[in-house]
Amino acid sequence: MPRLSLEGGHILIGTVKASGAKNAALPLLAATILMDGECLLSNVPDLHDINTMIKMLNALNVRAEYGPNNQIKITNTKKVRHIAPYDLVTAMRASFFVAGPLLAKTGFAKVPLPGGCSIGSRPIDLHLKGFKALGAKVSIEHGFVELQCKQLIGTRFYMDFPSVGATENIMMAATLAQGQTIIENVAQEPEITDLGHFLIAAGASITGLGTSTITINGTKTLTGTHHRVIPDRIEAGTLLIAGAITKGDVTVFDAIPEHNEPLLQKLKECGLGLEIFPDRVRVFYQGQPTAVDIETLPFPGFPTDMQAQMMSLMTLAKGTSIITESIFENRFMHADELMRMGAKIKLNNRSALVTGVPMLSGAEVKITDLRAGAALILAGLAAEGITTVHGLKHLRRGYDNLPEKLQSLGAKILG
Ligand code: EPZ
Repeated sequence: MPRLSLEGGHILIGTVKASGAKNAALPLLAATILMDGECLLSNVPDLHDINTMIKMLNALNVRAEYGPNNQIKITNTKKVRHIAPYDLVTAMRASFFVAGPLLAKTGFAKVPLPGGCSIGSRPIDLHLKGFKALGAKVSIEHGFVELQCKQLIGTRFYMDFPSVGATENIMMAATLAQGQTIIENVAQEPEITDLGHFLIAAGASITGLGTSTITINGTKTLTGTHHRVIPDRIEAGTLLIAGAITKGDVTVFDAIPEHNEPLLQKLKECGLGLEIFPDRVRVFYQGQPTAVDIETLPFPGFPTDMQAQMMSLMTLAKGTSIITESIFENRFMHADELMRMGAKIKLNNRSALVTGVPMLSGAEVKITDLRAGAALILAGLAAEGITTVHGLKHLRRGYDNLPEKLQSLGAKILG
């Protein structure tokens, strides 16, 4: 299994660019199924998951290909296939984003059940409830979801939970429904707003983006357009914590501060220095951070995708931090590996009690999921001695050249 060794104790100083957001680019790519003609997405991150989605689009007969400088050109054809290949959907849950666009565009979709992953069972009941509300016949047979509806009809739909994926899937489907759809209690993550802007640029009528209620007036067709993917707030946050945990001074540019408000507030509460500009954020060390409590919540609450990275920082803070993971049922797997590096953590269901220690010690650790991997690398940057991280494939799914970016800031990566 690919691995990475790094020597801790090197202060990270400098400036680094955030890549485009993985969790924006994936639904944006799926949305191109809805559009006639050609789309051009720019600032697309170079990730394994993006590759998987490109393979998915090509398997559906939507021609997608990498262009120069992080661009992807997508050309829709008249003969979109309805069946999403099993191996691609199980390789990446986000492939399920093709369900709503396929249903709306072709009247039929056959997509494998995505299944769970290491952080939770990851159900799709809210997606299916939304498709049903739009008039689709939904059946689950032999591990596949089958969706059928000649013409979706606008409706009013209340989301039991502000699910990011379900909000995106239902919003995409509703753009080609007949009449008006009002979705209440939607997720408000910036990636959803970015998707909404792309759909509007293609001719969709959507209001309420960034609020808890989105209204979509269906239209007959959408036309391909250009769109720049927003910066990745989770990558930016990870790089900022890399600066903080190594007692350094790091500026991340092409980052949107408003997208990271909850994290920046917590870093400030810890006593870290912050400088905020319209397109960049600087974090600098001002002494041992003070422990703060974190609860992960839907946006604009503290993002679950930053929980693991924040835990790494808290293992070296002054005092005790209570970290509550309210979004996923099993997202503390990085805690065991951090304890192998000398961290003091007590787990109790969805809460972790993290008591700061003076120093972590480098160790061999194993990555279980994308953000846990980032957290272990952050811990390794601060630890005394060498840390070897096994399971890099998880990291490459969602971070665009993270080791190289850290190295450019002064990290000692041993290969
Ligand atoms: C998206 O996943 C992100 N992935 C996740 O990022 C992120 O952690 C998550 O949103 C929460 O912010 C992408 O955008 C590709 P959810 P998603 O539906 O859409 C429950 C990363 O590391 N739920 O908001 O799957 C679910 O079980 C990844 O980049 C239902 O019960 O998240 C979970 O407890 C990890 N029924 C909660 O909602 C449903 O139908 C949040 O899930 C759907 C979800």
